[in-house]
Amino acid sequence: ANLSLWGGRFSGGPADALTELSRSTHFDWRLAQYDVAGSRAHARVLHRAGLLSEAELDGMIAALDRLSADVASGEFAPQPQDEDVHTALERGLIDRAGPDLGGKLRAGRSRNDQIATLVRMYLRDQALRIAGGVLDVVEALCEQAAAHPEAAMPGRTHLQHAQPVLLGHHLLAHAWPLLRDVDRLRDWDARAALSPYGSGALAGSSLGLDPAVVAEELGFDGPVPNSIDGTAARDVVVEFGFVTAMIAVDLSRISEEIILWATKEFGFVTLDDAFSTGSSIMPQKKNPDVAELARGKAGRLIGDLTGLLATLKGLPLAYNRDLQEDKEPVFDACDTLEVLLPAVAGMVATLTFHPERMAELAPQGFSLATDIAEWLVREGVPFREAHEVAGECVRQCEAQGKELHELTDSELASISPALSPQVREVLTVSGSLASRDAVGGTAPVRVAEQLEQARTELERW
Ligand code: ARG
Repeated sequence: ANLSLWGGRFSGGPADALTELSRSTHFDWRLAQYDVAGSRAHARVLHRAGLLSEAELDGMIAALDRLSADVASGEFAPQPQDEDVHTALERGLIDRAGPDLGGKLRAGRSRNDQIATLVRMYLRDQALRIAGGVLDVVEALCEQAAAHPEAAMPGRTHLQHAQPVLLGHHLLAHAWPLLRDVDRLRDWDARAALSPYGSGALAGSSLGLDPAVVAEELGFDGPVPNSIDGTAARDVVVEFGFVTAMIAVDLSRISEEIILWATKEFGFVTLDDAFSTGSSIMPQKKNPDVAELARGKAGRLIGDLTGLLATLKGLPLAYNRDLQEDKEPVFDACDTLEVLLPAVAGMVATLTFHPERMAELAPQGFSLATDIAEWLVREGVPFREAHEVAGECVRQCEAQGKELHELTDSELASISPALSPQVREVLTVSGSLASRDAVGGTAPVRVAEQLEQARTELERW
């Protein structure tokens, strides 16, 4: 018997090589329950259109319910000859409902509109799950910020000491991009919330089936406005791939810093034993593998996104079989984040910070030079000149191997008459931090407000 969905026109079955190439059940089977849900909704619109009697509808729904239970228990699984999830489930339905009734369900739908719909359903659920995992990382960052309200650290640009900042300010600077990622997922969902079901192969259905009814039953806001677009477009899938890649990139940036902070040279953090690994040869080693895997897997998600874009480039409308390649990249992104997010959240939550070490380094590298310049500006010195004067302070310190606060009163005065001993007020880390008290700045009062703001964002979800 020809087990495919298109026996009539063909004199023989497909070549083994085609079957092997064509098969997608090893990755699309995860859509099986969404496919069954789509089938229930489709059966109902067939009934509304007078194409299934009341009894046939009842029989169809009962068979689909049994099929769904058998899929869930593993009792029903795809066989090697099943091309894809749709083919396998049609076989399962016909086994349960008989060929006469089971064979009626395919009317007015195509695998092209089915698959476009199922991917959206699956990714919408995944988006919620991923958002939850991202928020756990944000929460861990907020907890660490809250636990260290006073700790200062060297803020860096170009990885060089720049100006002292509060540790909490820095940690929250990692929380905000992640909150925007969650926002992106929510925003993406508005575009994913339109159902392609009813688009048929590309031109829509002639059988009087209402796509709006199916859309509503499947939890969508409505049907897509164009059946060609509904079956051919994958921008929604690509956009999901972008947001997940962005999440991974954001995690990689936190991770890179944790890797640096955990080095002997920095000594800013100690990783918890539960979130670090040892070496098979060097007994002393404690390695930041979670952070390194996060950094590495970001590359993988970028690959998923670019692979997907490459698949779509130049593809004519409407459905082309190339589109079957849309699923593995985003499934990989989902699976990767599913294991990555809890590990990163746990690693961040269990970090032990060493505030003394960070405080010791915070003023080093002449990171208070800007404070001298800005103090001079408050004394009426033009910034251009103030910058020169502060630069001269740095030059002299560098020559003598000392820090800015170690310049004597006479050294200060000889650099510029405007440099009275009062300048020392800003030559401390706490003075510098407190002075940056505009909205968004690193002053402890502002960071405390910012933490509340981030927590309010967390509550919103
Ligand atoms: N398995 C296909 C996919 O994932 C859907 C089937 C459409 N196949 C076809 N020959 N029209 O895109």
